Amino acid sequence: MDKISLWKERIEKRLRELFNPPGPEILREAMSYYLFQQGKRIRPLFTVAVASALGGNEEDAITAGCAIEIIHNYSLIHDDLPAMDNDQFRRGLPTCHVKYGESIAILAGDALLNYAFEVLSDVRNFRTLSESEVLKLISVIAGKSGAGGMVGGQVLDITGEKDLERVNLLKTAALFEACFMSAGVVSKRSDLLPNLEQAGRMVGLLFQITDDILDRDGLCEILGERDARDKAKRIYEETLTILRDLFGKEPPELKKLLDKVYLRIT
Ligand code: IPE
Ligand code: IPE
Ligand code: MG
Ligand code: MG
Ligand code: MG
Repeated sequence: MDKISLWKERIEKRLRELFNPPGPEILREAMSYYLFQQGKRIRPLFTVAVASALGGNEEDAITAGCAIEIIHNYSLIHDDLPAMDNDQFRRGLPTCHVKYGESIAILAGDALLNYAFEVLSDVRNFRTLSESEVLKLISVIAGKSGAGGMVGGQVLDITGEKDLERVNLLKTAALFEACFMSAGVVSKRSDLLPNLEQAGRMVGLLFQITDDILDRDGLCEILGERDARDKAKRIYEETLTILRDLFGKEPPELKKLLDKVYLRIT
């Protein structure tokens, strides 16, 4: 099996180990509903791939990546709500609010966000991190998920911000920045955090433009499909250059993950 498939298996296993929330049965069910569907797990995969390229502890990177995956799944539950994108289906199944009702879906999202930080703030969940490193991880992930990151971007999106680059930078790229920076913290390479943030940002921008091309939405709708594809190609090439500069070579697994994102539109 290749490294990426092995990492994906370890991510699935670790998520199940870490995920045991207390509370009413209906809430736990709604919290698990998206989290254990067939998501791509692209965020934890990037987290572990970057940590591996930096010589960091893979298991700790997987744990940090799982916390980000929990936040990502909360953001999807809220993104699908009638007050936001009002979607009825995700991953071929009814959306969380369609299945459990709006109130439970909102609360399941809230509880997932809190749960991610319960996971992160328990230092026993990490093998090689000191308390201050765990605190740094929490600070990075909280910042990128919140008002100055993903939540802020969702606000720009639903309030009709015209500058879609700005929207995408926050609503999607911020969580990818969190993945790359978390890998830097796990690998004890704080010196690289600004460069890792930049690389994560590019991957996130590529991710959202390819999502928009597949959904015929967002940037694809504004630019037209041809220009959106040209733009995706430019971002892909620029990202490869940034990765080469950052690592001195092109880490093969990172290239494969980037191709997974880009090639889905080719
Ligand atoms: C969808 O993310 C939301 C966006 C930021 C475009 P993914 O496409 O990563 O969702 P799953 O988890 O793999 O279904
Ligand atoms: C979602 O963007 C970004 C989030 C922060 C959840 P989209 O609204 O384009 O994601 P999909 O297409 O519903 O997965
Ligand atoms: Mg949306
Ligand atoms: Mg949506
Ligand atoms: Mg979309």
